[in-house]
Amino acid sequence: GALEKRDDSQSSGFLDQYKVDDSDGYMTSDVGGPIEDQHSLKAGIRGSTLLEDFIFRQKIQHFDHERVPERAVHARGAGAHGTFTSYGDWSNLTAASFLSAAGKQTPVFIRFSTVAGSRGSADTARDVHGFATRFYTDEGNFDIVGNNIPVFFIQDAIRFPDLIHAVKPRPDNEIPQGATAHDSAWDFFSSQPSTMHTLMWAMSGYGIPRSYRHMDGFGVHTFRFVKEDGSSKLIKWHFKTLQGKASLVWEEAQVLAGKNADFHRQDLWDAIESGNGPSWELAVQVVDEEKALAFGFDLLDPTKIIPEEVAPLTKLGLLKLDRNPTNYFAETEQIMFQPGHIVRGIDFTEDPLLQGRLFSYLDTQLNRHGGPNFEQLPINMPRIPIHNNNRDGAGQNLIHTNIRHYTPNTLNNGFPLQANQTHGRGFFTAPGRVANGNLVRLLSPTFDDHWSQPRLFYNSLTPVEQQFLINAIRFETSHLTSATVKQNVLAQLNRISNDIAVRVAEALGLEAPAPDPAFYHSNVTAGISIFNATLPTI
Ligand code: HEM
Repeated sequence: GALEKRDDSQSSGFLDQYKVDDSDGYMTSDVGGPIEDQHSLKAGIRGSTLLEDFIFRQKIQHFDHERVPERAVHARGAGAHGTFTSYGDWSNLTAASFLSAAGKQTPVFIRFSTVAGSRGSADTARDVHGFATRFYTDEGNFDIVGNNIPVFFIQDAIRFPDLIHAVKPRPDNEIPQGATAHDSAWDFFSSQPSTMHTLMWAMSGYGIPRSYRHMDGFGVHTFRFVKEDGSSKLIKWHFKTLQGKASLVWEEAQVLAGKNADFHRQDLWDAIESGNGPSWELAVQVVDEEKALAFGFDLLDPTKIIPEEVAPLTKLGLLKLDRNPTNYFAETEQIMFQPGHIVRGIDFTEDPLLQGRLFSYLDTQLNRHGGPNFEQLPINMPRIPIHNNNRDGAGQNLIHTNIRHYTPNTLNNGFPLQANQTHGRGFFTAPGRVANGNLVRLLSPTFDDHWSQPRLFYNSLTPVEQQFLINAIRFETSHLTSATVKQNVLAQLNRISNDIAVRVAEALGLEAPAPDPAFYHSNVTAGISIFNATLPTI
């Protein structure tokens, strides 16, 4: 069928078959008849306009429905096509096919974004930045839906609506909380100290990158690599920019937001148009399964990094962007990334933030697209044939010809076959995973230390970078109107570092807090500390 004929060699070739060129020919209606679409049909030269004017109704109706809901978060973004090239045969780590041979190429699409702003917001607003990558592999689509900051604000996905309600514009006047009226965002941050680590990164240069090209990317959660023999290891994903890391200073970011709200979007577009598309190295930190608690924190906790001193990066391949979208809506807007888009050889972990994300993206995309067939949109289609018994539904674009659309069957010789009949072991779920325990609504106590890693981050900055971070917190908190929130913020900052708290208190005109030594310990939540004096800062 048509699916078998897909060009799986290059992404450009694949998308070409969907391109429609309206730049010549004559004007037609959506169903093909020649039309004149500049005058509505009127009863008499001075009207009124007639309901029977199907040409008018079709044109206006289509326009009225041009917008689909913007993403609930990460609405503002820009994307591009490129290629991933594997540096080697990584079957010693994973059965993932796109990593199976040196030089093996896989088409990719990356979408960069900010989180809180709407689709029309300014690129240079201070925010976490999305770094979502789709690999169109020869064993299906694989997405790393990551950020430019390696940790996240919360540890349980059930708190995500609270986080987003706190940082999105105020519900009464739609004025953003990130720039002017800060009380809600900082109320949430200071009441929910798991946010402290990500907040430190966001208040530093990572919140205002120089461009998308100058950002690293991170998968944030711990995932698993699974080998053909079924054995698995824990991994963290990293994209290392080859353009060098750089950020704006706050004054630049503010001026740019007014002068060119599309600054990042344009930078990426121009770089690619001029033949200087950006590159990243894809790398992983690899940790043995039994070491999930060995470093003094829990690898299932998405508010923690693994210092590279204890788990160095293995560079797997090179990712280069070299082609801009032809149509923003059809590519950048309609791409639907999901952490659940994994391929054979890659598996999830029990991280309770990741587990919730596995539900949320699919659910919201059903809403954005209005039905279950969004994977059939050209930008979402895998570059290989698909065979299953999913049928019908709104927006169904395929004409399925197999009338035995059920399993098991004998009338179709049992086809399509199950993966364990064709792909051996090592697909998806790692056989070694164990899940049992009493039902609880709790987070593990191994997730409890919220202050040691932010301290590690602060101590790793140069004095100038520390000053920029302090300035950012001063600027943001100077807009607080609630005395309670100001005090709560100071209390949390003081748990990270008395130095930060004293310097912020001074700008807020508040009394400098005394040190809070109960919190200035190394991270000992799992019994072993790596945050001791002998460890180099990162
Ligand atoms: C969208 C990253 C946590 C819900 C996105 C996007 C990125 C991202 C990069 C934009 C994707 C695109 O360009 O289309 C992350 C990271 C997280 C995280 C790194 C934590 C480690 C969560 C959580 C939830 C969530 C906990 C909900 C429980 C969403 C939703 C979208 C989204 C609903 C919009 C998706 C769409 O409309 O296609 N996220 N996110 N995210 N995220 Fe997250």
